[in-house]
Amino acid sequence: MDQAARLRELVREKESGARVLAVVSGKGGVGKTNLTVNLGLVLAKWGYKVLIFDADLGLGNVDILLGLVPRWDLRQVINGEKSLAEIIIRGPAGLQLIPGASGLQELADLDSFRQEKLLQELESLATRQDFVLLDAGAGISRKILSFALAAGEVLVVTTPEPTALTDAYGLIKILARLGTKNYLIVNRVASETEGREAAQRLQQAVRRFLHLDLPLLGFIAEDRAVGQAVHRQQPFVLSASGVKAALDVEAIARKLLGRAASESKAGSDFFQKLGRLFGRRKGDF
Ligand SMILES: Nc1ncnc2c1ncn2[C@@H]1O[C@H](COP(=O)(O)OP(=O)(O)OP(=O)(O)O)[C@@H](O)[C@H]1O
Ligand SMILES: [Mg+2]
Repeated sequence: MDQAARLRELVREKESGARVLAVVSGKGGVGKTNLTVNLGLVLAKWGYKVLIFDADLGLGNVDILLGLVPRWDLRQVINGEKSLAEIIIRGPAGLQLIPGASGLQELADLDSFRQEKLLQELESLATRQDFVLLDAGAGISRKILSFALAAGEVLVVTTPEPTALTDAYGLIKILARLGTKNYLIVNRVASETEGREAAQRLQQAVRRFLHLDLPLLGFIAEDRAVGQAVHRQQPFVLSASGVKAALDVEAIARKLLGRAASESKAGSDFFQKLGRLFGRRKGDF
């Protein structure tokens, strides 16, 4: 705990606003939402203020993993019925959540007044956080790339499967052009050796062909406790805190905290970029 407190101070000194992290993947179903929720909870348990923004357009399900039933979601915000602050729900350990909506696509069509209002509200909410985690979804759509760009720091999640690694490479190739700071997480590894080999393969390709560094944040073991936690709608870092996957997520959180926040381009910059994103039209990427 002492070490966590020291790291917390370090992060607070270096950053005035929140560190904004987008969780993305090339291939779907590799574990982004589980990572977002459990990483957010670990940080929240350690005393950080964490806000999760369910930005997986049309497929948001962070609330389900947390066992929460939001009364409102982004749809009401977009419709102008609710403010963003009004739809935020509190999860375990003080974690805060902006529940996603299948109507999120409509954000792109917001009139400029409402768009401005929403962004101002998000900005003011984020200044009170230490971390904002965006569960940004899979693939290389314009929206996902825009969230990654807006966040500045990107957690690329893959499994050791060749298909997932290939899709991760495809995504990183595009992120490389956007200049985001990318980190790698390999999920569902049978052993550390398998994880290390998969990470090295991807890191080597990224270094060789994209001339980029892809720091490894860690591995998460293939663990039955993850599926069980999903079924029970109780995140495994809380309901099964001693299991391998939970220890792995904690190690990732420590590594993330150890990475100087000054490397990132988080803070209010995020909202300027987000504003530009919603101002963009289809086909910009
Ligand atoms: N470390 C793990 N060990 C075992 N099973 C896992 C692990 N991580 C994820 N899973 C399984 O994979 C499923 C998909 O995970 P999750 O929903 O987090 O992926 P996702 O990347 O968010 O998917 P999508 O792209 O559809 O949003 C989970 O329901 C869980 O059963
Ligand atoms: Mg998901």
